[in-house]
Amino acid sequence: MTAAVPVLTLDGPSGSGKGTISRLLAARLGWHLLDSGALYRAVGYAAALAGIELTDADAVTRCAARTRIDFRDAADGDQTRVLVNGVDVSAEIRTETCGAAASAIAAIPGVRAALLAKQRGFRRPPGLVADGRDMGTVVFADAATKVFLTASAAERARRRHKQLKDKGLKVTLADLLREIEARDTRDAQRAVAPLIPAPDAVVVDTTGVTVEVVVERILALLPGH
Ligand code: C5P
Repeated sequence: MTAAVPVLTLDGPSGSGKGTISRLLAARLGWHLLDSGALYRAVGYAAALAGIELTDADAVTRCAARTRIDFRDAADGDQTRVLVNGVDVSAEIRTETCGAAASAIAAIPGVRAALLAKQRGFRRPPGLVADGRDMGTVVFADAATKVFLTASAAERARRRHKQLKDKGLKVTLADLLREIEARDTRDAQRAVAPLIPAPDAVVVDTTGVTVEVVVERILALLPGH
């Protein structure tokens, strides 16, 4: 049944533009949006809040299974709000600390298994834009259209720097570049669902390319668009 619902997967490293581009594509297509990174961030946040060691795979897996994560449309048309056990943690989960926690717990197979059904539940008519690291390789391996977004590490650090600064968070560009490279390495080298393009993904380099051009390029890949 759900397999008939079209899915466009967008995978890639942090700062490759996935978040912005997925949101724009979902709006243009009138499709649902899955920000799977927010789920991993929410689990990392919940585990840290509960005082769980992020290296304690069993405890973090139990935490992932029992944590309620909800997405709510923001009333002001702003970004979707993320609720962990009913509490709005949208701002808290966007910090680099939470990104690093997400990346640490995302390497635990039990955590990934606990989030699998939840992610697949987003596949509803008329379609889904799925943003993450393993959308095209694992979660929606049968998706008809798969994109892997890339950009140079320097450009990705600059983008993240601007994003965080706009949110009033203080972080230096050099620290950010180091953190981004460490997170990329961990995401790419983990044994389970590593960050790699699906064999049938189209790789789109966004370095020096405007968001609008990237969106049009991806739309052109969709059958019938
Ligand atoms: O995309 P975002 O930066 O919010 O993701 C945070 C972290 O969650 C990533 O660095 C990655 O380790 C993990 N993640 C993942 N699989 C996904 C989405 C995110 O492992 N599908």
